[in-house]
Amino acid sequence: MDRSDILVAKIGGSTLGAHDTTLEDIVALQRRGVRPVVVHGGGPLISEWLKAHGVPSRFERGLRVTDARTLDVVVAVLAGLVNKRLVAALTAGGGRAVGLSGADGGLFKARVLDGKLGYVGEVAEVDARLLLDLMEDGLVPVVAPIAVEWRGEAPTKQLLNINADTAAGAVAVALAARWLVFLTDVPGIRGEDGETVTALSSARAGALTEAGVIEGGMIPKVEACLKASAAGCRSVIADGRKTGALLEAIEDRTGTMVG
Ligand SMILES: Nc1ncnc2c1ncn2[C@@H]1O[C@H](COP(=O)(O)OP(=O)(O)OP(=O)(O)O)[C@@H](O)[C@H]1O
Ligand SMILES: [Mg+2]
Repeated sequence: MDRSDILVAKIGGSTLGAHDTTLEDIVALQRRGVRPVVVHGGGPLISEWLKAHGVPSRFERGLRVTDARTLDVVVAVLAGLVNKRLVAALTAGGGRAVGLSGADGGLFKARVLDGKLGYVGEVAEVDARLLLDLMEDGLVPVVAPIAVEWRGEAPTKQLLNINADTAAGAVAVALAARWLVFLTDVPGIRGEDGETVTALSSARAGALTEAGVIEGGMIPKVEACLKASAAGCRSVIADGRKTGALLEAIEDRTGTMVG
């Protein structure tokens, strides 16, 4: 199958509800023959719900430390509220969307990333068949980054919280997507001088991370971009709050291209 028309768009929780045009852009691109897949985060809403339940939020290298109580809220908010709101908005915009999580249809096989982070997983494998089938039927898959933990060759009943950036990168690689676009709340990656850079090589990305200029939530994005661009995917970080950002990002007219 020709996959040169597949676009993986990661919508950051930071831009959700910012009255951006991303969802309209996705519907418009689909009408033009692009096959979009959405992977979403939900950071701020998860933190809000955790706070309402009296559970503190803690991050390490941009990853949310996830104990059992945190995991319940993460699953409820990501796979429930955020995922269905996106599906509703795409539908209202004239698109046809299906919301699912990485736990559905064997989409992600995950393993615990690091015991110190709790129930945080890394995607060991993506079975992209379900996504390809949905796209074939003209649907936009909307993926919440939750997965089933596998031990050895067997699935467990344990759900894991997957960083949405890492998940988007893994999906883009598995689909051999043409584009991977991260829509977030900054115009792109800032360099040492505070200016947004247009293109960032792997070497410079490493140096900026080492120097602490790339930090927090930007780290998993840059790592995902580097992996995807090594696999032949055009990887861009752009400002999801900006009108038409997604349309411009795939034409290299905005944001930072990484790799
Ligand atoms: N060098 C850098 N250039 C630009 N932003 C950076 C840099 N280093 C760190 N950041 C931070 O990364 C943030 C974006 O990542 P963040 O995880 O907060 O958002 P998101 O991934 O879009 O949303 P979510 O995590 O909720 O899904 C920016 O708001 C900025 O504060
Ligand atoms: Mg983030």
